Amino acid sequence: MPYEANPADDARIESLLARMTVEEKVGQLGVFADMVRPFAPDVNPEANVRNAAEVLEQVRAGRVGALFNGVGAAQGRQIQRVAVEESRLGIPVLLAADVIHGMRTVFPIPLGEAASFEPELAERTARATAVEATAAGLHWTFAPAVDIARDQRWGRGAEGAGEDTFLGCAFAAARVRGFQGEDLRAHDSLLATPKHFAAYGAVAAGMDYNYVEISEGTLRDVHLPPFKAAFDAGALAVMTAFNDINGVPASANRALLGDLLRGEWGFPGVVVSDYTADMELVAHGYAADARDATLRAFDAGLDMSMQSGFYAAHLPALVESGEVPMAMLDEAVRRVLSVKAAIGLLDDPYRSLDPARETDASQREAHEALARDAARRSIVLLKNKGDLLPLRRDARIALVGPFARDRDNLEGCWTLFGDRSRYVNVEQGLRAALADGAVLDVVDGCAMEAELEGGIEAAVAAARGADVVLLAVGEPQRYSGEAQSRTRIELPPAQQALAEAVAATGTPVVVLLRNGRALALQGAVRDAQAILVTWFLGSQTGHAVADVVFGDFSPSARLPVSFPHDSGQQPFFYNHPRTGRPETPEMSEFKARWREHPNTALYPFGHGLTYGRVEYGATTVAAPALAWDGTLRVCATVRNDGVRATEEVVQLYLHDRVGSRVRPVRELKGFRKVLLQPGQSLEVAFELSRADLAFTRADGTHGAEPGAFDAWIAPSSATGKPARFELLPPA
Ligand code: GLC
Repeated sequence: MPYEANPADDARIESLLARMTVEEKVGQLGVFADMVRPFAPDVNPEANVRNAAEVLEQVRAGRVGALFNGVGAAQGRQIQRVAVEESRLGIPVLLAADVIHGMRTVFPIPLGEAASFEPELAERTARATAVEATAAGLHWTFAPAVDIARDQRWGRGAEGAGEDTFLGCAFAAARVRGFQGEDLRAHDSLLATPKHFAAYGAVAAGMDYNYVEISEGTLRDVHLPPFKAAFDAGALAVMTAFNDINGVPASANRALLGDLLRGEWGFPGVVVSDYTADMELVAHGYAADARDATLRAFDAGLDMSMQSGFYAAHLPALVESGEVPMAMLDEAVRRVLSVKAAIGLLDDPYRSLDPARETDASQREAHEALARDAARRSIVLLKNKGDLLPLRRDARIALVGPFARDRDNLEGCWTLFGDRSRYVNVEQGLRAALADGAVLDVVDGCAMEAELEGGIEAAVAAARGADVVLLAVGEPQRYSGEAQSRTRIELPPAQQALAEAVAATGTPVVVLLRNGRALALQGAVRDAQAILVTWFLGSQTGHAVADVVFGDFSPSARLPVSFPHDSGQQPFFYNHPRTGRPETPEMSEFKARWREHPNTALYPFGHGLTYGRVEYGATTVAAPALAWDGTLRVCATVRNDGVRATEEVVQLYLHDRVGSRVRPVRELKGFRKVLLQPGQSLEVAFELSRADLAFTRADGTHGAEPGAFDAWIAPSSATGKPARFELLPPA
């Protein structure tokens, strides 16, 4: 829902502005941790009350634009009452939090949900999240993360939609629509904040907070489009990134925050710093001190400063000295007040602060059903040798591994407010699906990162006595998320040893992988008969795993990130530019590959199996050429030769064979998840125009170039035979 300014609001905002002191204006630009409300009570509880009185005093003085990461409608109402009834001008505060993929009901991590290739599903889970978050006294979420992550050593890929821009745009827009709903002023509309602007996923070596060296073309064609998609979907806030871009920190980058965001894109909303990113300009060596950092950030276009207190401390003096024109300060404050007006706060400051709504659990069941469906739709079946899956319910099953009955690693790296009492772990889900629980033998085998005394022996004994092993292994959730970059994206050694020992018994193994990134699967994990990628699935983990394991749901998800052979291949992504030495049968040596591995993925982007048997017919184009202003139909027939209905993610890839800049070997340009009954054939068609072929050309302009193109309609980024077509030059 693109934002339409309301003239009545404008008049009220101008009247407020005219009465505000400089300190009150600067106050609207401050975002501070909410120490008044319980911050995820079981997380640093001692922090909850510290400074609560001081924060309320700042609110009363009109020095707070927003508070974040507290919850509770009743106490939120108290905060708002102080702002509205005790401050001089009664301007309400925005109440925000990091609500990324669920509030009390927790959905799969965004990377896992992206595997569904169902943006409409993400819209529904974001909507349910917004209903719960606004009921808990929140107006604003610092989500969705829309960073494109091409290096799996980086831990924050878990929060986004993976390595592909086209998929990333679809999920960015869907999550914004879901959070905000149809009406920004509704009590259950949650203001979205696409983050982290920009190119945070491109940090060098996958090391969080590291420098970013990037070409203008890659910045514009890979990392920026999901933000534009989010803004086009109606987002009115954006959070800047910690990193620099080619030497200029994003949070003080006028080319980014001014020329592009305001100039080129006409973004009307507010720009908020990621946490203390303005303070960090000094550590970057981009500002000499706090005052200089304040001037550089504000001058570049950073409207709101989070947590550092720099704006409150230095902006008034900068305005006084004339280094910051009053008109510029007014412009930033106007944008903050406009957002507050846009979500209805100036009309109803107590919107979303109804304690009765917070205790209303009437939607909890529907949300948990949605969580279960979202979770099972996120599970990717990488391998299923001999159709080992789905399992019979009378099979003797050994559930082995540290994730078998773990309850502390279900929600992923970025969940602050989940209702853990309602979580269902793997053992619980399996037992609920089995009439006779006796067939399930559960053994940890090892801890997350260490051996257990007698653990392997117990696991081996259980494996010997079973028809099949479900091996629940993976990354502890603290291995992904912020500041969690890894040099080797593998399982902890103790878990690998467990896998080797269990596999050596000869009992067939199904790996239930728990992961916040693509992993380099090794040894017995890689060689298992079947592998299910289960990410971090949230509240309904156990039921979703059981639904897939026992065949009540046929897996339909696809990889949103490439699984490499080895960590050393990072950064690895399917849509990499061509080289002059591609690995082809003709090239005997001196080709683009590693000594140890080919320049391929173990499991490529877009890969995923189902319990069906889907065959693809040839990709065909309706004509050999696409006219410059025309459209071209590309299609293929898919057929389910299996015995069960199945959902297939049909993918369209394009390749520009000759460009003024070297072009990616393939790029996703369309996808459609289709339901195929056993024996059913379906023609799947995509309509192309030259907009689908556009990129940032060598001269810096954005557009297509006439010439030859390949098109694939395929089940992944590494399969299929292309059809050729020509884009004709302008008539
Ligand atoms: C963190 C994260 C950002 C989050 C913010 C507020 O450092 O980078 O994603 O929204 O601070 O918690």
